[in-house]
Amino acid sequence: MSARLDRPHVFLPGGADRPGVPLLMLHGTGGDEHDLLALAQRLSPASPVLSPRGSVLEGGMARFFRRQAEGVFDEDDLRARTDELADFVLAASAEYDVEPGAWVAVGFSNGANIASSLLMRRPEVLSGAVLFAAMVPYAQPPSGADLSRHRVVVSNGDRDPMAAREQTALLVAQLRALGAQLEELPHPGGHTIDPTVLSRIAELMG
Ligand code: MLT
Repeated sequence: MSARLDRPHVFLPGGADRPGVPLLMLHGTGGDEHDLLALAQRLSPASPVLSPRGSVLEGGMARFFRRQAEGVFDEDDLRARTDELADFVLAASAEYDVEPGAWVAVGFSNGANIASSLLMRRPEVLSGAVLFAAMVPYAQPPSGADLSRHRVVVSNGDRDPMAAREQTALLVAQLRALGAQLEELPHPGGHTIDPTVLSRIAELMG
């Protein structure tokens, strides 16, 4: 196994006949590489799935990057961890014979935030993203990314205490400014994945 693949992860090969779009599953704080496998199955049962564990520990809980406080991100660490994750995904593409750049990131909370950072900083790794309970990763987003071929879904709750409506609106505006084809699927709940939006997302993956 190559050094860059040397982090805990799950890879599932997907359907042999007509594999779906490859999914990169990114868990929330305190989760692990197994957390979102059922979600991947629900969204696109024939897809290859790559699900890494976040490489940062906060009080014993795995995350994808450091934060200074709730909602206050360490942007230097976010940049470094984003590059580390992008390199891991490229190595996994070669190891598991998945077209590089075809991955759709599906992230929840901290996983959604590093998925946004991947889009903004390393767009060549992804073809799109589904962001659940997502926040704004960078106060000033990196400039220069061209997301015009990237389809992005943002599904935040109207009562999410960590992602207020203004924050969701800012994230959506930042991604649209980079050219992303963006669809919003809001729901009335909080910091969660609302099952009522999953059919529409599954349809988009088909
Ligand atoms: C979390 O608890 O994971 C936060 O809401 C999101 C983050 O820190 O990235």
